[in-house]
Amino acid sequence: MMAAVAAPADQATPRPKHLLDFADWSALHIMGLLNTADVMAQVLTRTIKKVPALQGFTVATLFFEDSTRTRLSFERAARAQSADLIGFAAGGSSLKKGESLHDTLRTVDRLLVDLYVVRHPVSGVPYQLARWTDAAIVNAGDGRRAHPTQALLDAYTFRAHFGVAEGGLPFAGKRLTIVGDIDHSRVARSNIELFTKLGGEVTLCGPSTLVPNEFADLPGVRLASRLEEAVEEAHAVMALRLQQERMTAGLLPSRSEYVARYQITEKTMQHAHPDAILMHPGPIVRDLEVASDLADGPRSVIEEQVANGVPVRMAVLYSLLVGRQ
Ligand code: CP
Repeated sequence: MMAAVAAPADQATPRPKHLLDFADWSALHIMGLLNTADVMAQVLTRTIKKVPALQGFTVATLFFEDSTRTRLSFERAARAQSADLIGFAAGGSSLKKGESLHDTLRTVDRLLVDLYVVRHPVSGVPYQLARWTDAAIVNAGDGRRAHPTQALLDAYTFRAHFGVAEGGLPFAGKRLTIVGDIDHSRVARSNIELFTKLGGEVTLCGPSTLVPNEFADLPGVRLASRLEEAVEEAHAVMALRLQQERMTAGLLPSRSEYVARYQITEKTMQHAHPDAILMHPGPIVRDLEVASDLADGPRSVIEEQVANGVPVRMAVLYSLLVGRQ
């Protein structure tokens, strides 16, 4: 298995030590990760879905905020490569007893951790932890700032359906439309960063209170006020959950108005590319941001996204722990 893992994609530039966002990651490094994920996906088809690639390494999952998909798939990804795994889920640490974040990290560091997977409700925490430890940090979602492994598994899923362009950037000529609560979404920010870095175009649509105009200044990004216009010719339409836990009052129209103007339905998808796929990072709220029959229908790749989280996160752990040595 080890010999089959892709070599670093860009030999001239060392792969970054951490995965906090994509600022330091080149398109070649990112495609190298996706190619490594292909190898990991092959491992997961075997009867024994386990390799010794990370034997002797310790991964710690520090989840200060709830998660189902991200935490479990990182745990699956670490165990499938024989890493030792420690960590806590939201509310399960001694922070509740008054221990500081710095002291928490110093304490866990003493357990000889090689890589931390960190989720936190406050933007910037994984970046701060990266200054306090010699271990690698993977950002598993910080506030509204970034969720890079979600964007990677989304790109991996997109690539499986639409392939990559010959020559030039891999997603050149491809369109992703993201609909809903863009402002509070780390998934939107990371998808914008990754999809445009790979050469694609991103259209954003939602209530104006939830889609700040500044996004239009980003290269490769445009805003559309009407849903039908936003999804026109889109290869993928991504619905986002309304993150009411991060909202102050008054940002939303009524639920019925939101559904009427922004819910993604089969009819919406008829305006998109004929082969367009429906994406959603989860968790979904059925019949609010997306019609339930569409979420369960043939255009939906929502469960495929979840499944792809394991090989993609295997590739991230492998690349940061072994691929740099
Ligand atoms: N998409 C995502 O981050 O889901 P979880 O919150 O369940 O991890």
